[in-house]
Amino acid sequence: HTIEWDLEAAEKAGYDHFMLKEIHEQPTAIQKTFAGKLMELEGTIKMDELYLTPEQIKHLRRATIIACGTSWNAGILGKYLFEKLAGIHTDIETASEFRYGNPVLCGEELTIAITQSGETADTLAAVRSSQSYGCRTVAITNVVGSTITRESSSVVYTRAGPEIGVAATKTFTAQLITLYMLAIYLGRVRGVLSAEEAKNLIVNIKRLPGQIQKILNRKDKIKECAEQFADKRDYFFIGRYLNFPIALEGALKLKEISYIHAEGYAAGELKHGPLALLTDETPVVAIATKGHTYDKILSNIKEVKARDATVIAVANEDDTEIEKYVDEVLRIPQSHEMTAPILTSVVLQLLAYYTALANDCSIDKPRNLAKSVTVE
Ligand code: G6P
Repeated sequence: HTIEWDLEAAEKAGYDHFMLKEIHEQPTAIQKTFAGKLMELEGTIKMDELYLTPEQIKHLRRATIIACGTSWNAGILGKYLFEKLAGIHTDIETASEFRYGNPVLCGEELTIAITQSGETADTLAAVRSSQSYGCRTVAITNVVGSTITRESSSVVYTRAGPEIGVAATKTFTAQLITLYMLAIYLGRVRGVLSAEEAKNLIVNIKRLPGQIQKILNRKDKIKECAEQFADKRDYFFIGRYLNFPIALEGALKLKEISYIHAEGYAAGELKHGPLALLTDETPVVAIATKGHTYDKILSNIKEVKARDATVIAVANEDDTEIEKYVDEVLRIPQSHEMTAPILTSVVLQLLAYYTALANDCSIDKPRNLAKSVTVE
């Protein structure tokens, strides 16, 4: 008597794909990434792994974030966080461009490399180039002992666990959490962020794992929506401010695994070109969660509707206004404007996943793509 045994099926722990399993691991991945670091009472973050003195942190003139792919999308959010929470002017660069540009850098600047694998050739080369200017480097990576960890002065680990699906999911949200923690820490040391403001953010960060679980429990609604539009060939994702990089990542996920053409756009830029492409055959996913750009995105949605495009909005649970303007609403639990993008990311991952599933695509190993690109 033998038992049928399939190693890969066992590793997927009952999920049809590694991607779906990894999407479901996000509450744990995030919890492990912030474990032991959130000092709620003091209103700060424990960041012993950052080899920078308080004096050096206060004198930082600029930060440059370098990354590729999904990690680059995380980096755009990082820029907004460092500027808002820590008052540090921050540039975000794709590694492949940075290495052939003419960066103007000096010693009192920080380079932050974001790379899930720690092995991306372009990112490693860009970091080496920035170090030749005397910049200190912080690496954010998920892989202990990877090449980037040996080449950076400080390493902050995301604790997402190994990611098998080519399309990054749990490592992306873990990178975002790490960027929030880094920005809060730098902001506290620099005296830009008050203990009260930091506490409020920490409380909201702590609530994220439970709130992500809530989204996962209601994923059928996202599946239905994905199936309804799975035959469309062009998609747009729009968002403003913190939701702009989340729109880019939503579009990237859809392209990677479903082979549908998708573009992420800063919603205010639609009128400078893409509006010409909108018809009733182009669904537009609009991130319309509450925040100081809410009214602005509502008017962008109206521009889109005027071109007959279908609008799928991502909105807060208690937003009863939004359904008057859009065709479908996907909900996220109430969260601070600053932390809501993490919840929206999970919704967009599921939307991409179920769209690819409906199209019978090779979700864990999309054509032409590699998990880690170790050549130029
Ligand atoms: C590849 C992967 C992407 C990833 C990118 C950067 O293109 O398919 O999912 O975002 O590399 O990888 P890294 O390991 O540097 O974050």
